[in-house]
Amino acid sequence: MPRLVLSSKSVKSVTADALLLAVAPAAAGKRAAGVLVLGGDDLPRATRSALQEAAAALGATGEAGTVHLVPGVQGLSTSLVALVGVGEAPGAEGLRRAVGAGVRALAGKRRVAVAVPAPDAPSVAAVAEGAALGAYAFTRYRAAEREPVAEVTLLVGKPRERAVRAAVERAAALADAVATARDLVNTAPADLAPADLAEAALRTAEGTSLTVRVLDEEELAAGGFGGILGVGQGSSRPPRLVVVEHAPARAKAHLALVGKGITFDSGGLSLKPAAGMETMKSDMSGAAAVLAAVRAVADLQLPVKVTGWLAVAENMPSGTAIRPSDVLTMHGGTTVEVLNTDAEGRLVLGDALVAASEEQPDAIVDVATLTGAQVVALGNRVSGVMANDDDFRAAVLAAAERAGEPVWPMPLPEELRATLDSPVADLANIGDRAGGMLVAAVFLREFVGSRPSGEPIPWAHLDIAGPAFLTGEPWGYTPRGGTGVAVRTLVALAEDFARR
Ligand code: BES
Ligand code: MN
Ligand code: ZN
Repeated sequence: MPRLVLSSKSVKSVTADALLLAVAPAAAGKRAAGVLVLGGDDLPRATRSALQEAAAALGATGEAGTVHLVPGVQGLSTSLVALVGVGEAPGAEGLRRAVGAGVRALAGKRRVAVAVPAPDAPSVAAVAEGAALGAYAFTRYRAAEREPVAEVTLLVGKPRERAVRAAVERAAALADAVATARDLVNTAPADLAPADLAEAALRTAEGTSLTVRVLDEEELAAGGFGGILGVGQGSSRPPRLVVVEHAPARAKAHLALVGKGITFDSGGLSLKPAAGMETMKSDMSGAAAVLAAVRAVADLQLPVKVTGWLAVAENMPSGTAIRPSDVLTMHGGTTVEVLNTDAEGRLVLGDALVAASEEQPDAIVDVATLTGAQVVALGNRVSGVMANDDDFRAAVLAAAERAGEPVWPMPLPEELRATLDSPVADLANIGDRAGGMLVAAVFLREFVGSRPSGEPIPWAHLDIAGPAFLTGEPWGYTPRGGTGVAVRTLVALAEDFARR
């Protein structure tokens, strides 16, 4: 995470190794068609026209997502300028992505000054988030070829304004949390056994008001967590249930977050094909997002109780692994016939949803890299959300929209429940292949508890299978590997609950 510094310095006088300016398509009619350099209004005319000419010579269009590097512009104290396209009238997410792409392109420069116009606190927030998220690099196993940006100076009109400072503090907390999630996802599965993820939770909580409880295999057995134990029994490295709690005295509401934490998903005895396994170190992305979000909620001292439940196991094939046709008794007593050991996420989540429900929170969100069907349906950038409550689903969608994380609503068709019927147990862990994302969610719904009145607890399920891990080209503020998706949506939702 780079240091974020606010400054009211002029573009002309700021010292940095590189300067980030915005370019936009020149509004038709207003000017000759072409590109318009934004920011740096205080620069001398000659410098401004040098920038303008360089932009035109490089073929910059101002289109969102483009980055052009311009060295040696006369009249500037920085030797390199990045021109980032912001498109026409960018919203908050447009700004985040543009600045993120620019800062990514400037890896190797220690200090970057950002002069993308940010006239109000919300745009400062977007610029700060984009910069901090785009500066991420995973360096555990290899020194970065180019050092990540270490300091970002945000040039703004009113750096001392309360709302502006708060916006930058929030951006730093969010980016820190996202980096924590990305680091955990990117860690090789040999170095992140279930006990290591539990350790990481303890470390993440250090120096905060968070409390962490770790249930080991013996405590899981005593508590009847048959789903987590069943999935974990094929691995030499036993499973864990980790409970991370933010419980401020003045809590307005209680939100429970449940994360799928499969540290590696081989498929178990229903082994995945080789190619399908390549990215399965990322199968704990839900748990990582929940842990990181709770940490951010604590950093921001939100007046809301948030309990994170990380259901952590390694899904391996071995002589001790669960077999197709084995029957597990889940926490709470529901029995599940395991027909496919690769449908393991729903097994660990079922246990955790029951446990989370026992505390009677106001609402529950689970986050999981749950199905390949999610990727088929929505692709690699859009997560699916399913819920047992229309209002709560809308609240999750609104939070995601504000956070800038694409999420799309999906249904829970009633008729799919019967496809999960088992001849021997309360339900089977696989149903119809068609609509696989929805079938998995219908399975999870069985484990969401009710109020004493019989009303189900509001619950939403985020399937992040595609968006959690990027194997293609980096874009915007999203790097290759773990993306940290869902962290910002969860924090935004917690902020809503804190205002209740
Ligand atoms: N972790 C996978 C889902 C996944 C697939 C995540 C691709 C990210 C990218 C999950 O445990 C799984 O294997 N699901 C099966 C379920 C099936 C057996 C019903 C799937 O989607 O194929
Ligand atoms: Mn699986
Ligand atoms: Zn899985």
